[in-house]
This record gives sequence, C-alpha cells and structure tokens, in this order.
Amino acid sequence: MKPIIAPSILSANFADLKTEIEWINESQADWFHVDVMDGVFVPNISFGFPVMEVLKKYAKKPLDVHLMIVEPDKYIERFANAGAHIITVHLEACTHLHRTIQLIKQHGCKAGVAINPHTPVDLLADILQDLDLVLIMSVNPGFGGQAFIEQTYSKVRKLNALKSESQYEFIIEVDGGVSDQNINKLYQAGVNAFVAGNAIFKAENPSTLIIKMKESASQ
Ligand code: DX5
Ligand code: ZN
Repeated sequence: MKPIIAPSILSANFADLKTEIEWINESQADWFHVDVMDGVFVPNISFGFPVMEVLKKYAKKPLDVHLMIVEPDKYIERFANAGAHIITVHLEACTHLHRTIQLIKQHGCKAGVAINPHTPVDLLADILQDLDLVLIMSVNPGFGGQAFIEQTYSKVRKLNALKSESQYEFIIEVDGGVSDQNINKLYQAGVNAFVAGNAIFKAENPSTLIIKMKESASQ
C-alpha cells in the first residue's frame, strides 16, 4: 500500500485557513488530519465545529478527524454531518468502545481507534475486526511539535503482526513527531498513514516536503 500523508491542521495558520486548505488541495497530501481537543481528555483545547465547517466547504480530500475528547458518542452525529470521513476515538476515552464504533459506522463514516503511548496494542485484539483504522500515538496527545517516542516502532510491528495473522484490512496510522527523518523506518514497520503537523507546516516548502516524505517512505 502506498503511504498516505495527512497534514495536521493544528499546525496551520488559522488567520489564513482557506489558503492553507487550498495548497493542501493542490498538493500530494491524501487527507486532512483534524485534531479536536476538549481540555479534559487532553490538557489543551483546539477547535471544533466552526473549523470543521470551513474544512467541509473548501477541502477536496477526506477529513481524518481525531477526537481527543471524553464521551465522544455525544458528538459523533455532528462530526459526521460536519463532513468527517474518518472518525477516530481514543480507546482510553471509551467505556463502551464497540458501541461507539458502531455509532460511527451508522453515521456513514470510517471508524478508527487511537491509543496513547502507554496503551498496549493487545488491548485492541477484540475490536480489530470492526475497525477501518488504528492510530498509534507517537507522542502524548495534546500538542503539536513534540518529540517522537521511539517505543512506537515496536508497537507498530506488533500491531502489524496481529493484522497479518488475522488478515483484517485496517489502516495503521501514526501521529506525533513524524517527519521525513523517521518515515522510512515507520513504513518498513507497517505504517500506512502518516500524520504530520510541524514537519510539514514549518517546512520551507510544505508541498515539496510531502513529496519527499512519500519518496523517503517507500525508498
Ligand atoms: C497531537 C495531535 C497531532 C499533532 C501532530 O495531539 O494529535 O496530530 O498535531 O503534530 P506534530 O506532527 O507536530 O507532532
Ligand atoms: Zn492527531
């Protein structure tokens, strides 16, 4: 599978969001990664529906929505209506994860589950069959620009082994501290989709960096 690149809007210039969306539309990026934080599940507050509506209006690529919020069930319908294609919830935030996943699918979205750096991939064993995507956090969620946690590689390999054994077809995504420097090793370990905030938005030429990331991944 070819690498999927998902620029994280969290690192965009919000004073000029439309321009940011437009260059991503024109670039080799595959998805828009949308980080929603509630100040409860994570120690930060990002944005919500008003920004989703702008993305829905102008983005020409799928919206990959990462909910870092407690009680996500309350908002699944609204995120689906606001244009989400993929909705990812945190394992650590869901008491009835199976029900939440069904709810996401009932609203016509692809369903993902994210796990924090301390959460073992084995905890996903009995839900993997229902998932379209697993997001392995490679930083503690809450902020862009943090250092990549090295333990991520072994988690990805473990999850990829579970995937091969089971022949399930979920996408493996990583999020946090991803750049052109570590993308190859992650791709080799089994990652399919790469979220990148700072690496892309702080690059001198973001579109070129996306191309470089794709080349480095599959080299
Ligand atoms: C962190 C977010 C990430 C973040 C990634 O909580 O989920 O998507 O924006 O940013 P970088 O790539 O800068 O680590
Ligand atoms: Zn994210």
